Amino acid sequence: MLQKSKNRTSPISYASFRKTNPFGELTEQQFLSDYWHKKPLLIRQAFPGFSTPINPDELAGLACEEEVESRLVLEKDGPTPWTLEHGPFTEDRFARLPETHWTLLVQEANRYIPELALLRGAFDFIPHWRNDDVMVSYAPVHGSVGPHVDQYDVFLLQGLGRRRWMINPDPVDANNLLPDTELKIMQDFSACEEWILEPGDMLYLPPGVAHYGIALDECMTFSIGFRAPSHAEILSSFIDDLVPDLADSLRYADGDLQIQKNPGEITARTLTGVHNILQQALSDSSRINRWFGRYITEPQHNELPEERESHLSPAEFRTQLEQTGWLIRSEYSRFAFIQENEHVYLFIDGQEYDLLPSWIYIAQLICNHRHLKLEMLQSWLDDNVFIELFCALYNHAKFEFPDASWIPLK
Ligand code: SIN
Ligand code: CO
Repeated sequence: MLQKSKNRTSPISYASFRKTNPFGELTEQQFLSDYWHKKPLLIRQAFPGFSTPINPDELAGLACEEEVESRLVLEKDGPTPWTLEHGPFTEDRFARLPETHWTLLVQEANRYIPELALLRGAFDFIPHWRNDDVMVSYAPVHGSVGPHVDQYDVFLLQGLGRRRWMINPDPVDANNLLPDTELKIMQDFSACEEWILEPGDMLYLPPGVAHYGIALDECMTFSIGFRAPSHAEILSSFIDDLVPDLADSLRYADGDLQIQKNPGEITARTLTGVHNILQQALSDSSRINRWFGRYITEPQHNELPEERESHLSPAEFRTQLEQTGWLIRSEYSRFAFIQENEHVYLFIDGQEYDLLPSWIYIAQLICNHRHLKLEMLQSWLDDNVFIELFCALYNHAKFEFPDASWIPLK
């Protein structure tokens, strides 16, 4: 029986997730060229000796927390087949779960389990702006979320027990859905290929590949997901960003109007005018670049890291940095930069910072590394603008100092 365990008991062993190429013989570039966003790949022992950094009871403990996004999928024993329940859950809910045929899912687990944040380091060859989250699932025997399709690239890493994965890369009809459940489960699914994954094995799936995983034992799976915004999301976000800056007096203009034979007709000349308005809106490439930087680093569920209750002064921040020797980036925050002509634009959680070109090193440092070592920052410590920026970011909880249990990567 799954029981809520509030405090994580496993020691934080960072050493087990040292940056490593998970593809064995295949280089990361070969993986990108041949498989990424194209076709599935099974990688046996992608992480040899992998053992889950969180046990099932600890996962249940997380699913009881208010701020954690969690779900239960019950294939049987719910009011209808394939019932979805949303967390937070109570201990009592776990006590009443059936023996088999259900799954507990916890989203954004990399925020709460530092080892999973580090695990993402193994996927650093993929641009960070594509990162979504690490989701952890727990299922007893026969547990599954049903056959389905995701619109994400995902690496499914087996963490505990065995899971049978069945896939079918054929295009899936949008109407191929089970009725009477809010879960998007396929009504008809037939497997082309199937494998049994053991701890350390990993299955990569591009978007659109139908997949169906069934727990053969008590089973935990870690889904390392990568999002790609839809065209609809891109267009609607850009337009939302642009529209408030367009003056109401900026209008369709026809000072060159000619008498037309059919006043009821919308002429080619008129349509050219409309096309021009649309094209003009999309012609400012710098605006598009900077909007994209802000958009793609926006917190996904409008959650920002909480601002600290007591702020450090820049001098206090510097002292603490020198004493601790490290700064750790918050897993709640998204960082990216763009280099454009004489500008370096830094984006953090949807905010844009226009940096001097000489700050490119700082932008690279913040955006490329989850852990910043004092030595990397040493030559900037006497620069007041630098200390003030980093102190402000720290006070807004974009960074933290590691606690005593933290063992840094070499
Ligand atoms: C699971 O871990 O049970 C489901 C993961 C997925 O299919 O995306
Ligand atoms: Co899936």
